[in-house]
Amino acid sequence: MPEFADFLEIQTRTAWGKTLLGFAEWSLSAGKRISLALDIGTGPGLLPALLATRGNLQAIGLDTDYNLLRAAPASIPVTLGCAAALPFPAASFDLLTATNVIFLLGNPLHALGECRRILKPGGSLCLLNPSEHLSISSATALADARGLTGKNRESLLGWAARAEKHGGWTEAHARNLHTLAGFQLEETLLRVGPGFARFTRASIP
Ligand SMILES: C[S@@+](CC[C@H](N)C(=O)[O-])C[C@H]1O[C@@H](n2cnc3c(N)ncnc32)[C@H](O)[C@@H]1O
Repeated sequence: MPEFADFLEIQTRTAWGKTLLGFAEWSLSAGKRISLALDIGTGPGLLPALLATRGNLQAIGLDTDYNLLRAAPASIPVTLGCAAALPFPAASFDLLTATNVIFLLGNPLHALGECRRILKPGGSLCLLNPSEHLSISSATALADARGLTGKNRESLLGWAARAEKHGGWTEAHARNLHTLAGFQLEETLLRVGPGFARFTRASIP
């Protein structure tokens, strides 16, 4: 397991790490009091680590992949679990996050319903999903314009391929999904290049 400071330093050197840092700061910027956060589909736990350090709060990571969780720093609590059956009682968390996860799921509404159950009244659900602007051709154009090579190029084009397969989120799609799951969409914005990532913030009406 890596040392916490090394983990943060190494992980936020990558383009994706910088995106997650921006997302963490945005998630904490709504001015709400947050004591406990859960990041769903956390991978190696970078987002809960960023939330914990930036927000002075406790943040837990959850993922279905044990091997990814093993790479998380020791000070970040992580748990094995699935978005479709979150292993927590109702109204447990002040903040729920999921980056690059919900759009991949066969039944995103089911996962959002679970989020609705475990979010405290007054809490926030902050998601990052690819937007309608991310496609293999738009990602290739950005990679060429920025001279991206190697892993950076591969990961951008891989993300674009997954967005084409599963569908990027328009504002209307995000609003509809949140409404069906019992949330109210409060804010959405586009980030990453020409707006490849859609950030959404929602609450319980
Ligand atoms: C594209 S990765 C994103 C990882 C991380 N959130 C990030 O932005 O770097 C998707 C993650 O979601 C996890 N995942 C996929 N299906 C899941 C599910 N049903 N419940 C929880 N995690 C899931 C995968 O194991 C993987 O770690």
